[in-house]
Amino acid sequence: MTQNPYVIDQMISAKAIAARVEALAREITAHFRGTDKLVVVGLLRGSFVFIADLVRELDLPVEVDFLEASSYGDATHSSREVRILKDLRGEIAGRDVLVVEDIVDTGFTLSHVLHLLRARGPKRLEVCALLDKPSRREVDIRATWTGFEIPDEFVVGYGIDFAQRNRNLPYIGKVRFLA
Ligand code: IMP
Ligand code: MG
Repeated sequence: MTQNPYVIDQMISAKAIAARVEALAREITAHFRGTDKLVVVGLLRGSFVFIADLVRELDLPVEVDFLEASSYGDATHSSREVRILKDLRGEIAGRDVLVVEDIVDTGFTLSHVLHLLRARGPKRLEVCALLDKPSRREVDIRATWTGFEIPDEFVVGYGIDFAQRNRNLPYIGKVRFLA
């Protein structure tokens, strides 16, 4: 695939992310203290690095599951159509559930996923999003916990991609086009 040349300017350092993940995990652990099991649902693929770091900081009995919904193609614009490409393996009825998302942008993806999961009758259903772009919101929805609020920039790294690239960057950076 051809791609206009771009550079990545660091926005949030690996160190800042790690500190924030630790703080989020403390709050989530306190919130769910006493649970028999917390089902942590990672939304693929963007949350895979975040969920890996987050679950290792949770002092709770945890099960990890994944769900893949598509809203973005390989473009920088969101589409309203949300499809479930891969569903959970496990049941969540009567369970404590934490959905882990990389970015809440327009909010369509999260709203669709929460609607779907709520219909399965979880005991508690909360959301932890690494990033939030409040200025882009089109659906009135917010995560229970948010790592960082960011401006309307296209970001990559720490699991987040641009046309499937740059997921392996240890920090979060913004994409700046050169042409
Ligand atoms: P929403 O449905 O518009 O809220 O889209 C959320 C999804 O779009 C996120 O889970 C990301 O996968 C993707 N997305 C939104 N903003 C960005 C970005 O800046 N970089 C990469 N992916 C993004
Ligand atoms: Mg995503």
